[in-house]
Amino acid sequence: MERKRILTGDRPTGKLHLGHYVGSLANRVRLQDSYECFFILADLHTLTTKPEKQDIDTIADNAREMVLDYLACGIDPAKSVIYLQSAIHEVYEMNLIFEMLVTVPRLQRVPSLKDMARSAHLSEMPFGLLGYPVLQAADILMPRAHLVPVGKDNESHVELTREIAKRFNNLYGEVFPIPEVLVGEVPTLVGTDGNAKMSKSLGNTIYLSDDAKTVDKKVRGMYTDPKRIRADIPGTVEGNPVFIYHDIFNPDKEEVADLKDRYTRGAVGDVEVKEKLALAINTFLEPLRGRRREFAERKGFVDQVIYDGTMRMREEARETVTAMKKAMGLQSIWNRISRKAEEARKKDG
Ligand code: TRP
Repeated sequence: MERKRILTGDRPTGKLHLGHYVGSLANRVRLQDSYECFFILADLHTLTTKPEKQDIDTIADNAREMVLDYLACGIDPAKSVIYLQSAIHEVYEMNLIFEMLVTVPRLQRVPSLKDMARSAHLSEMPFGLLGYPVLQAADILMPRAHLVPVGKDNESHVELTREIAKRFNNLYGEVFPIPEVLVGEVPTLVGTDGNAKMSKSLGNTIYLSDDAKTVDKKVRGMYTDPKRIRADIPGTVEGNPVFIYHDIFNPDKEEVADLKDRYTRGAVGDVEVKEKLALAINTFLEPLRGRRREFAERKGFVDQVIYDGTMRMREEARETVTAMKKAMGLQSIWNRISRKAEEARKKDG
């Protein structure tokens, strides 16, 4: 039986962090054998907030770093397709068609877009940013994906994708499956500063590629219960980022339970809690660092992975867009006109 398909990916804006891992990467690695996987380097999406030339000039390097992060996590390039969005011409076409199937007020209700405009310091909404989730729908439906593992902030985009796919199928016939969303075990990871979301623009991240010393330093500086100015003051565990991270990244559940107990009683110093956390995170990241180093040392390997994936995706894209245009009857407009033109030319000649 044919395996079902996954499509997901990221904007190549920089290195990936722990939030990406728990939100989506862990699911991708876990599911890569049971699904046929397509991972998009969504560079066109970066243009929605950063269309300047100097930003475009950083895309290639960012994409390479991101692929190294994928490979470091255990994504196997022999099993999965990793491709560059801007090199797939059909996505521009599909985006335009999908724009006809969604209303402006519907897009204005997508919660993430206002946040993106705000963090990019845009006072007014660019047309393309409003269309961000429409372009994402084109990405998802291009390989006719069934499942989309993403972080919580992308849930509403997959919902819109489902609506577009249903609307298309209703108007023109069944071309697209209706994709399901899959949000990670930790839908949104708190930042090291206690901000609700770990995010590059907030500067509260731990990168998958951070070395052990950097992790030690970042963990030492983490936001924790502010009322604990001394180790003998009872502290709050609930909602405390240091313990949220312990729960996620420290596999020694007994140690975590003991630390929590002593913390609540005022019987442990922050230093010990944080040292044990840094150790747990470093133990988790160590195998990733090893794989990252190995792949980075193979000259040109990452570029080959992107090249092969993009070529493969181009075939998929041609097939899907042909099916799409055929279902709509768009294909036959040109076919009929060109056939008549040829016939007329033959008669004249
Ligand atoms: N919107 C995703 C992000 O937040 C990137 C992305 C673009 C994506 N196209 C996608 C994710 C398709 C999943 C599926 O960076």
